[in-house]
Amino acid sequence: MSKRIGVVTGGGDCPGLNAVIRAVAKASAKRGWKCIGVLGGYEGLLEPRRTIPLDHQTLSGLLPRGGTILGAANRGKFSAKVGHGETRALPKELLEAAMQGMDALGLFALVSIGGDGSLSIAQQLFEHGIPVVGVPKTIDNDLEGTLFTFGFDSAVACATDALDRLHTTAESHNRVMVLEVMGRYAGWIALFAGVAGGADVILIPEIPFSYESICTKIQERENLGKKFTIIIVAEGAREKDGTFVTSGAHTKTGEARLGGVGGIVSAKIEKCTGRESRVCVLGHLQRGGSPTTFDRALCSIFGATAVELVAAGEFGKMVAFTGPQIGAIKISDAIGKLKIVRPDGNLVRTARALGICFGD
Ligand code: F6P
Repeated sequence: MSKRIGVVTGGGDCPGLNAVIRAVAKASAKRGWKCIGVLGGYEGLLEPRRTIPLDHQTLSGLLPRGGTILGAANRGKFSAKVGHGETRALPKELLEAAMQGMDALGLFALVSIGGDGSLSIAQQLFEHGIPVVGVPKTIDNDLEGTLFTFGFDSAVACATDALDRLHTTAESHNRVMVLEVMGRYAGWIALFAGVAGGADVILIPEIPFSYESICTKIQERENLGKKFTIIIVAEGAREKDGTFVTSGAHTKTGEARLGGVGGIVSAKIEKCTGRESRVCVLGHLQRGGSPTTFDRALCSIFGATAVELVAAGEFGKMVAFTGPQIGAIKISDAIGKLKIVRPDGNLVRTARALGICFGD
């Protein structure tokens, strides 16, 4: 009987998940292994077990398709995140039940595709004896040890396109337009899209802002005859001495649901400057749809490299964009701490050199 390998996707969805699944399945088939997809996150390993074969038929058309054919799950028994940076130890019985699931399904290894939360689960499964390899996923790009996670480029492309569109309407109406983007406690999406989309102001969690600074920037533009201003704000951005803006109750996992800072910034600016201002919250548009060409290539490399790691018996590791090559690091080195934007980093310095204001 041929060897069987499992693939599981955890956490929220992200452009490129299907492309990774496809790459893992194709690279496995090349080695003569059968690949199966675990449905609904890690819970698919538990009774009643839910899986699908990842054969030529299932893989058809997957490369450009958004979402995940395996279903996403960031709630339930296997949620390992409790809050900002904190993880929860999963009960021994649950880890044992997952191990039994691996045996019952005849799986000799598991490829876990996920962000900090799902990879924290992967690490615990690995410590319990399950041979796991990780693939870093998140539009937020906030995982340690890898320059890029897949999905990030697609989210940035979406936000940049939104900025292009907001430019023309802002200019026509002489307005301030504020675009709120995702990213949780890291400002990568706002920073990359802000530079790529020519924003005048970029607000990120790593650089707390003041309204005085933003309004001065708007005035400077007015003095140059520019009667509109484009602001991109990360959902986790906050005022100096301020706190994160949340959009409601904490989720079941205990994670705060961020959102709403864009509306606050817009209203405050309108009041301070007397100039009309509007907010646009990009939301889950950033997570949906087809992955960019870069993400499709990255997903293909990540998936194929994950299979190489399995073949080499390098378990407990995560594929990583370490540059210039795709390499691997220990999963334990990637989780539990966020990779955030360095205020003195290259792109922040570039943005400042181009006259972009960070509100500080
Ligand atoms: O981590 C990815 C992410 O899209 C964040 O940028 C955002 O804060 C969060 O997930 C939204 O999660 P949900 O879809 O559960 O509201």
